Amino acid sequence: MNKLIKDQIGQLKPSATLAINEESNRLKKKGKKVYKFGFGQSPFPIPESVVSTLKNNANKNTYLPMQGLEELRSAIANYLNKKNNNDFNKEDIVIGPGTKELMFLTQIIFQGEVLLPAPSWVSYQPQAFIAKNKVHWIQTTSNSNWFPTAEQLEAKIKSIKSKNLLLFINSPNNPAGTVCKNLQEIAEIAKKYKLIILSDEIYSELTFFDQYKSISNFYPEGTIVSSGLSKWCGAGGWRLGFFAIPNQLRELKNSLKILCSESFTSVSAPIQYAAVEAYKGNHSNYLNAVKTILSFTGNYVYENLKSNVINVIKPGGGFYLFPEFTNVKFSSSSEMCKDILNKTGVALLPGSDFGLDSKKMFARLSFTDFNGVNFLRHTLGRKKLDDADLRKNAPNIVDGISAIKDWANSF
Ligand SMILES: Cc1ncc(COP(=O)(O)O)c(C=O)c1O
Repeated sequence: MNKLIKDQIGQLKPSATLAINEESNRLKKKGKKVYKFGFGQSPFPIPESVVSTLKNNANKNTYLPMQGLEELRSAIANYLNKKNNNDFNKEDIVIGPGTKELMFLTQIIFQGEVLLPAPSWVSYQPQAFIAKNKVHWIQTTSNSNWFPTAEQLEAKIKSIKSKNLLLFINSPNNPAGTVCKNLQEIAEIAKKYKLIILSDEIYSELTFFDQYKSISNFYPEGTIVSSGLSKWCGAGGWRLGFFAIPNQLRELKNSLKILCSESFTSVSAPIQYAAVEAYKGNHSNYLNAVKTILSFTGNYVYENLKSNVINVIKPGGGFYLFPEFTNVKFSSSSEMCKDILNKTGVALLPGSDFGLDSKKMFARLSFTDFNGVNFLRHTLGRKKLDDADLRKNAPNIVDGISAIKDWANSF
């Protein structure tokens, strides 16, 4: 048989995420209790008004414009201008079937090299690899909240010949749940070297404490804002995301539109109509309740894990924490996660999946293994939660964290 797969594609390996999921399923089949702390999905229901808008638009059956429904693009531009103090108009917005696809097409278009903080989200690097864009990792540390410092960024840029660079910044971030505190400094370097920034703001509505800040405020002309319905709206499976691209980068936007039309044509019409309600409606009660649950749960996990053998930063947004187990010895973080899964039933993802050195004993922990419908129903309207709420509504979190602690203390 002739070779069917391109060399570049043949080199791609299934991610450790898949391996952990397979192992989890195997254990579950054997009747073992598995704590799903590896999954990055919202546990909450979609706001009711958004669901009813979808129902009312189920009959929308025509292809929509390749850039997206005009009314939705206007709603998103207004939403960003209000929330981020941006200056976008509907022509700057491109709608896609999730931001992942828009990022992928952007990598295909982009002529240059890619700067990725390590750790960062699992798909940035494989997408760059598929598109044959060279990746330069910037090794960040917990001291800088897992974001590059301006000095690190500048030193890295100076070490690279190509000056056409695309930098990914994801705040609040996956895998650590941390919020970037040095956006302005990063933006100044980006401006100096004319980088393009892809600001992945998919968790921005789930920022727990301060008002969200976008790097697009400090470097509007070079920043693409990326967000969508998957996390804040509990609608990952609906597959709707957007890019907001400033006029200065319209060449890139025009190419992106062409690739959209040649790949997925346009996003599902009923979903786009429903998304108008997601971006026009007032969902503050829902969001406040969701954030109260997430920040309480994240803080519980942080308080209960941090110890003389586990280093971890308190999360500032999103679903995750990124603990380091300081007293264990495994050949890789992947081996460590297998051991944790087999001994405790807790599924975590190894730090190496996020671009960290596999010898560093980090893992990503997602604290969403609970029934979000019930948790919301029981706590809606309350500003403060307590441990009893968590025990009642998220018993897997309480038991799973206790199991990890015991595991770490057993060495
Ligand atoms: C950091 C980050 N960016 C992007 C995405 C992709 O989101 P979407 O559902 O919009 O493709 C995810 C989803 O897990 C994510 O964690």
